[in-house]
Amino acid sequence: MPYQTVKGTYDLLPEDMMKFNMLADLFRQFLNLYGYGEIKTPVFEFTGVFQKENDTSDMVTKEMYTFSPNGKDSLTLRPEGTAGVVRSLIENKLYGNSELPIKLGYIEEMFRHERPQKGRQRQFTQMGIECIGDKDPLIDAEVIALGYFFIKTIGLNGVKVLINTLGDNESRLNYKKSLEAYFEPYEDQLCFDCQNRLHKNPLRILDCKIDRNKDFVRNAPKMVLTESSAKYFEDVKHYLDVLEIPYEIDDRLVRGLDYYTDTVFEVVSTNEASGSQATIFGGGRYDELVKEMGGPSISGIGFAIGVERLMILCEAEEVFELDKSLDCYVINLNEDKDYAFKVAEELRNNSFSVEMDYYGRSLKAQFKSSERKNARFVLIIGEDEIKENQVTIKDTLTKAQETIEKEMLCERLDQLMEDYYV
Ligand code: HAM
Repeated sequence: MPYQTVKGTYDLLPEDMMKFNMLADLFRQFLNLYGYGEIKTPVFEFTGVFQKENDTSDMVTKEMYTFSPNGKDSLTLRPEGTAGVVRSLIENKLYGNSELPIKLGYIEEMFRHERPQKGRQRQFTQMGIECIGDKDPLIDAEVIALGYFFIKTIGLNGVKVLINTLGDNESRLNYKKSLEAYFEPYEDQLCFDCQNRLHKNPLRILDCKIDRNKDFVRNAPKMVLTESSAKYFEDVKHYLDVLEIPYEIDDRLVRGLDYYTDTVFEVVSTNEASGSQATIFGGGRYDELVKEMGGPSISGIGFAIGVERLMILCEAEEVFELDKSLDCYVINLNEDKDYAFKVAEELRNNSFSVEMDYYGRSLKAQFKSSERKNARFVLIIGEDEIKENQVTIKDTLTKAQETIEKEMLCERLDQLMEDYYV
């Protein structure tokens, strides 16, 4: 049996790569518009970068690809982008000599040992941003705006923004205590994972896929925010309103990673094509992470978009318009291939995309190829053309044909292209 891809991984074939690159190019434009620099961190890091003490997230406790090549160091394939970016920010002291906040964006592969299904892979790509150094509701709203307007610019409609606040430390600690007390009598009705979460991070019970629809979970007490935390959330919403970004408040949105504080958000798809993996991107603020990882006490906020999920949605809403056209196809009718070969290369040097026949096939076969490749111009090189140092141009749009000096070729093609669109 020939080899196949490992479960949960996949190939991106040339047409998929065209789509991927369209999204990546647009995302990079958005990074630029909002003042983000692009960063690339290693694919693997010391396990401690991702695994914090008492971490309860599925990602850290169950899904990491951890290995030890020398039997000593524990290394892990990057399961998410934030921790590596924070490690880099601290290691390179990026906060020391730049104006805060530091704005970093990335397009990187991530690895999680999850049960694969549509929109959920073991290797996947995230486009993400991290804005680290200052805490201000304006920044939270701007981060959400970058993601939202990126999605809108792609042309996607079936999406909605959900936001929530996990409160500041004080509100969250009080809430954890009251949830713990509330859920204790229901302990044996909780799923296995939530029984573990009960005393470590009872907030996660609220958005557990298995337990969230049970009546006693629905009726759980709501968080009581401190005055400053409530004001912060009000301000974030106000700035979203200023930018006319529609959002829904989902007070059970907790997010799967442990480092979040205050604002959390997700953009979910309302399109059926997304199946059960409707979250296109998610993010939130993290007040403690930088300090916890050995850096200064500064807050950050960011999000990551799952590119595969985004592509599924883009396909469903038919937003991709791929330009698969070719500028020129060179038909050579001579045994001697030098002249045609040289013409093709000269055109490429002048930024025309060119393909040519390699095999000396019949005129008909070569024309067929030019059609399949969607060539705008067919350049015919027969015996006379070589003798007279000329090229015959056939314009496939106007159907006009003319023979011109080889030296004039690029200029003439430019002119024909321009004339057609006037
Ligand atoms: P996350 O919610 O774990 O957050 O992942 C963000 C997005 O990555 C998800 O919304 C989803 O679209 C995509 N994703 C996650 N797991 C998979 C998978 N197995 N297959 C395909 N796509 C997947 C984070 O990773 C945070 N680091 C986001 C963040 C940045 N928070 C603050 N800054």
